[in-house]
Amino acid sequence: MNPKIKICWSTQFSCNSFNKHVGHLYKVINIKFYNQLFYFSIGGGAGGQVAKDALGNDVTQTSWLTTHKPGDRSLAQGLKGDPTYLVVTENNEIEKYGINAVCTHLGCVVPWVSAENKFKCPCHGSQYNNQGKVVRGPAPLSLALAHCDIQDDAVVFSPWTETDFRTGENPWWK
Ligand code: FES
Repeated sequence: MNPKIKICWSTQFSCNSFNKHVGHLYKVINIKFYNQLFYFSIGGGAGGQVAKDALGNDVTQTSWLTTHKPGDRSLAQGLKGDPTYLVVTENNEIEKYGINAVCTHLGCVVPWVSAENKFKCPCHGSQYNNQGKVVRGPAPLSLALAHCDIQDDAVVFSPWTETDFRTGENPWWK
């Protein structure tokens, strides 16, 4: 295999690094290695972004589940840099969706209150259930969603453009 292509496999390379080093090979890879390109497209390109922890490191499923237990909702850096909750399911897996922590009222970051099983905004009292659906105003809308997938152990966010399963409506954030 061409070593320039091989190096792209490393999850240590960010999208910018990937583009810098092999951007000129993009179309070639697109033709010959579609599946591999798809990973990078989700992992750092226009379609998605690898979650980052508080130190700016890539989040891996293995490391996250070592320190976050079932029911946990903790923040990672998500799409466009937005603070986004990763949810650990009762089966000890990372949930297929992340919950954007930016309050839909005036934009405060909404903390998770595990004792009450809800998100509660400290700014003006809005509340959201454990999936981020608004249950008390003044927030007018539920917290935004992002897809959350595991790609070679990396936790990858990508835009949620489908129906909001919590409301049955089109996503307001699309
Ligand atoms: Fe959250 Fe106002 S910013 S309730």
